[in-house]
Amino acid sequence: MVTVALPKGRIAQQTLHIFEQIFKEKFEFKGRELILKKAGFTFLNVRNWDVATYVEYQAADIGVVGYDVIKELNSDVMELLDMKLGVCKVCVGGIANDDSYKNKTELTVATKLQNIAREYFSKKGIPTKIIKLNGSIELAPLIGLSDVIVDIVETGTTMKENGLEIKEDVLEYVSARLIANKNSFVEKKPQIIKLYESMKELV
Ligand code: PRP
Repeated sequence: MVTVALPKGRIAQQTLHIFEQIFKEKFEFKGRELILKKAGFTFLNVRNWDVATYVEYQAADIGVVGYDVIKELNSDVMELLDMKLGVCKVCVGGIANDDSYKNKTELTVATKLQNIAREYFSKKGIPTKIIKLNGSIELAPLIGLSDVIVDIVETGTTMKENGLEIKEDVLEYVSARLIANKNSFVEKKPQIIKLYESMKELV
């Protein structure tokens, strides 16, 4: 049995669809079920931010999670495959047509990606105060909570509709990755490799 942690929502559905194509069976969490057992797999329906944690602690053998999460948590897991799902970037965003943030001696940055933001500005030698938010990050510069934000940009619509623009790219390519626990990869190598090979053909 291989345990697979999937992030609630679209990525989980798309990943289960890949399993359906491989095994020619229906893979679906029913109602509010958090566990699904099928075809020798146990799927766990977990929050996006918890996937890497489940895999790192071997509560799941493998999982699918965004590269932003792996990077932010600095997870000790093996990255096996780029699933090419949920493609986006991580950017510095700020008020459109206003670059005055560049003249600040200390930059206030609102983000849920605190470590990514801290590392990015520290490499540039820019002192920052990082304010951790959990969502609707785009609001922060609009009401003066921060000078800029560091956030996920997919279509760019959220920034545009709120009078913000991309100022700098922090991570130019973010996507969902198939990850594995390091011990599981050794213990269940044949099953994991077989699955990896099938998935690779479909993504
Ligand atoms: C993400 C991200 C941006 C938005 C970007 O938010 O934090 O707000 O999507 O997408 P876009 O470029 O296509 O507009 P999410 O929907 O995950 O919500 P939250 O961060 O506010 O919780």
